[in-house]
Formats: sequence, C-alpha cells, structure tokens
Amino acid sequence: MSTSNIVWHQSRLTPEQRAAHLGQAGAVVWLTGLSGSGKSTIAMALEQQLVAAGRFAYVLDGDNLRHGLCADLGFSEEARRENIRRVGHVARLFADAGGLVVTAFISPHRAERDAVRALLPAGRFFEVHVATPIEVCESRDPKGLYKRARAGEIADFTGISSPYEAPLEPEVVLDTQALGIEAAAAHLAQRLTEAGLFTGPPRG
Ligand code: ADX
Repeated sequence: MSTSNIVWHQSRLTPEQRAAHLGQAGAVVWLTGLSGSGKSTIAMALEQQLVAAGRFAYVLDGDNLRHGLCADLGFSEEARRENIRRVGHVARLFADAGGLVVTAFISPHRAERDAVRALLPAGRFFEVHVATPIEVCESRDPKGLYKRARAGEIADFTGISSPYEAPLEPEVVLDTQALGIEAAAAHLAQRLTEAGLFTGPPRG
C-alpha cells in the first residue's frame, strides 16, 4: 500500500494545549497475558476507578473489538499481528486525543507490542504483564475455551497450540493471585499518577 499521494494535515493544537484543556496527558496502559488471565476485568476496573476520579479513560478490549473493527480477523499468527497493528493505532489516536487508554488483548508477540510502544511518545506506554500462570487460567476457564482447546475443538489456542511471548521488560508485572482486581487496578492508577500524567484538576 502506497502513501505517496497522501499528505499529513497538521493539527492547530499542540499536545500541551490538549493536556491543559483536559487536565491530563494521554497514555496507553497495555495489558498483555493469556486468555483468562484477568486482563479485561482489570481493565474495566481501572477504567471505572479513573473515571470515578474525574479522568477521561476508555477500554479497548480484544473480545469486544473482534465484534466490529477486527471482525474479519481470526487467530492465525498473521491475523493476530494485524489485530494488534490495528488496535495499536486506535489506542494511539485515543491517547493523542488526551485519553487514558486501557487495552486488554492477549497480544502474544513482542514485536507487535514493541511496535505499538514505538507509536507513542516516551513514557506514555505502560506495558503490563498480567502474569497469571496458564494452570491458573485453565482452572478458571471463564469462557470454557481451554476445555474446548484441549478437546481439539479450537485451533491455534494461545498457550496450548499457539505461542505466548511474555514481556521481557514490562513497566508492571501483576500477580493476580496475590492481588485482587480492585487492588491491581488501583496499583496501575497510582503508576499513572506517579508518571505525572495528571496535569490539572479532575473534571467534575
Ligand atoms: S490476540 O492474540 O489477537 O491479541 P485477542 O485479545 O484479540 O487476541 O482475543 C482473544 C480472545 O479471543 C480470548 O480472550 C478468547 O476469548 C477468544 N479466542 C477465541 N479463539 C481463540 C484462540 N484460538 N486463541 C486465543 N483466544 C481465542
């Protein structure tokens, strides 16, 4: 695909002006981990905590986006790479608009996660490994998918018949067995505060 006949239109607003308007700088909290590790639940809790604190936050969730934007994609390696490429750009757009984007995708490949990181300004991408071991995910099996994958009914299932590359240097590692959902979300919210993203008072 060529972009040679396409020009970039420059906004009249600077990132600083957007941050001043919203009282916050945009960022991406990128949760990665196995299916059933707790990504979506933690993401929803974090979104709720941030909004309750008067912040602009929004979740991008793998299962949800696969109903629309990524409905044409399956779970081959190539399809997953395209899934993360697309949602990475969506996350970047939200963050550029000043939002705190919380994403919940397995995102099994380091290369794609690193590519999303490279889309964002330094210090605005928080890679969070939801490090629940596969045995625990499988025993929880909230959607019954591990059982079906073991029975050979689902191909290319992450952790069973498709690889998961754990982050090497994530900003945060969450032990979901030691930490409850709300505490995990609160820990992430605290990290955002410490990173200096909240530049003004919360909105009422
Ligand atoms: S990713 O690998 O491309 O990042 P994504 O997070 O969007 O995956 O979607 C994962 C969700 O799809 C899982 O939580 C699960 O509910 C569902 N799913 C269906 N088939 C598979 C599969 N083969 N491997 C992993 N998850 C699957």
